[in-house]
Amino acid sequence: MAMYFGADYYPEHWPEKRWESDAQMMQAANLNVIRLAEFAWAKMEPVEGHYDFTWLDKAIEILNKRGIKIIIGTPTATPPKWLIDKHPEILPMDADGHVRGFGSRCHYCSTQEIYHWYSDLIVGQLAKHYGHHPGVIGWQTDNEFGCHSTTRCYCDSCQTAFHRWLQQKYGTLEALNQAWGTVFWSQTYSSWDQVIVPRKTVASHNPSLLLDFYRFSSDMKVEYQARQIRILRQHTINQFITHNLMGLFPEIDYYKLSADLDFISWDNYPRFQGAPDSTRLAMSHDLMRGIRKQNFWVMEQQSGPSGWETIHSTPRPGEIRLWTYQAVSRGADGIVYFRWRTCQFGTEEYWHGILDHDGIPRRRYKEVQQTGGELHKISPLLEGTLVKNEAALLYSYDQLWSLQIQPNNPRLNYAEVVREYYERLHELNIGVDIVSHDDDFAGYKILIAPLLYLMTPDLVSRLTRFVEAGGVLITTFRSGIKDWENAVTEKTLPGDLSELMGIEIEEYDSVYGETPISINMEIEGQRFAGTACTWCDGIAPRSADVLATYASEYYAGRAAVTQNTSGDGKAIYVGTRLDADLTDKLMDYALAKAAVAPGFLANTGIETAIREKEGVKLIFLLNHAAENRTVHLPGSYVDVLTEASVTGAIELEPYGVEVLQEG
Ligand code: GLA
Ligand code: ZN
Repeated sequence: MAMYFGADYYPEHWPEKRWESDAQMMQAANLNVIRLAEFAWAKMEPVEGHYDFTWLDKAIEILNKRGIKIIIGTPTATPPKWLIDKHPEILPMDADGHVRGFGSRCHYCSTQEIYHWYSDLIVGQLAKHYGHHPGVIGWQTDNEFGCHSTTRCYCDSCQTAFHRWLQQKYGTLEALNQAWGTVFWSQTYSSWDQVIVPRKTVASHNPSLLLDFYRFSSDMKVEYQARQIRILRQHTINQFITHNLMGLFPEIDYYKLSADLDFISWDNYPRFQGAPDSTRLAMSHDLMRGIRKQNFWVMEQQSGPSGWETIHSTPRPGEIRLWTYQAVSRGADGIVYFRWRTCQFGTEEYWHGILDHDGIPRRRYKEVQQTGGELHKISPLLEGTLVKNEAALLYSYDQLWSLQIQPNNPRLNYAEVVREYYERLHELNIGVDIVSHDDDFAGYKILIAPLLYLMTPDLVSRLTRFVEAGGVLITTFRSGIKDWENAVTEKTLPGDLSELMGIEIEEYDSVYGETPISINMEIEGQRFAGTACTWCDGIAPRSADVLATYASEYYAGRAAVTQNTSGDGKAIYVGTRLDADLTDKLMDYALAKAAVAPGFLANTGIETAIREKEGVKLIFLLNHAAENRTVHLPGSYVDVLTEASVTGAIELEPYGVEVLQEG
């Protein structure tokens, strides 16, 4: 697929007479794709059963004439008022038992049969109308499933659906009672109907029930999306189906949500929560690519200051282009900016787009135009290139949820710990695929898998196979603690991981307060002193070697980090939360053991990433800093944007980008 470059557009927000000049300006800005219609249900079906697509036909025709292709979003995130008035039971319910009313968006419960009925109808009508349209290249299902805390609904319909889901999973009530340990606090259920959804109660709910409810809720979004996909596939030809995910959003299992899509898209707002965090952005892109091990799109990318009631900072000159190249460098084949023009009304009247309220092209428009021109120029080179990596990082929604339910220590956060390891890879410009616990990990040289709190015999055997075959595995404290149903193992910790890690945990200390624990690390004759926090496992090595010991508290002298040899590989266990320097030292050691070399311009502060296919290797250099940066190239290259040869020192301007071709 060639490179797509475009914007999110809402023709229904503007008088028809403006559409033509919008399309002209889009074409002049090098846009070749528009996503539209994802909130326009009331425009498409103003009265029940009366469908009106004439306005959309007209808008699409105007855009198509300018060489712009269309992605249609199904409008199901905004069921219209007539539907809610007729069937108020569609509205979702929060954990307090309050109905979340009409007036914004995402106000539907995804298990309501009556909602399925209406949703099938509107999706079917749209699919029949546009499923063979040559100017429509694809579909987006709904919009950002789970946005505004709508993944988990606590209504009666969800309770009934939860019963069905549990019956399928456990078969018998005895099995459920056993798995959840309902004998505790007299929670034993004697009929399926008795089982609750975790609405507000007096103290904390059963952790096994909570984890199953989180899984169920995620599955309900997946199932609801599957209805839309079925209908779209039935009525469309040669049109793709995608969904706009939300990067590191934690409530839906994105491995499952994306399984039936043609590819993943996601929405990227780097300046939404303060200053942009290039590591977080890179990690989000890597997750979005890693989930399907496939290139992806950015379906919404920030193009102006964003905000609803308050407005966040404006993209600095060069940043729109920089974020675009960062996405492309990590595997994006489509970039769509949110939104074309800033709206004059509604909740999002301050969520700015490429154009301001007055519709006059200025700095941001010109930057989009320039970026589009460049991408079209290098599109033939980019086509078919992929990001190929030797390192993998495990990211699991089940682990994340179980540690959300019980963080163990108030300062423990799954995504933060995963990020602490990711950071070193990012500084070293070592590309990494983020992978699921269901992966077989074969083909990678190193696997970083922090906080494997829940464990199954199957996961242990895949990890063991990986190490025996020569891989280097890193895992951490709070691993091997529980079974997949969220109950604690009776084995000595780290439970089923004990043999692979060559250790036993004799006791542990959840670290409160600010005083860090002192650590001495000794790796291949080199000594490093540092600190740790949050958690300390007192490790008794069995067959493992000691890489670090505690130097404070009553466990001074005990092992804190160990390494076990198993087959041709190494299994490293980090029993505590090391400070950043020690994490770096350990990572450098593990990467060297795995024979994973530092990436291009490692440790220079310039982010780099590589896309390649046979005969082509494109290297992207990104300066996320607000000042100039000079770097020294290790060879000679061609700058594919200017076609000049480059070698030796090059200077990147603030937020500057270089795309080099090797060879
Ligand atoms: C999300 C949504 C868009 C829009 C933007 C700005 O990413 O998908 O519809 O609401 O946020 O709030
Ligand atoms: Zn519900």
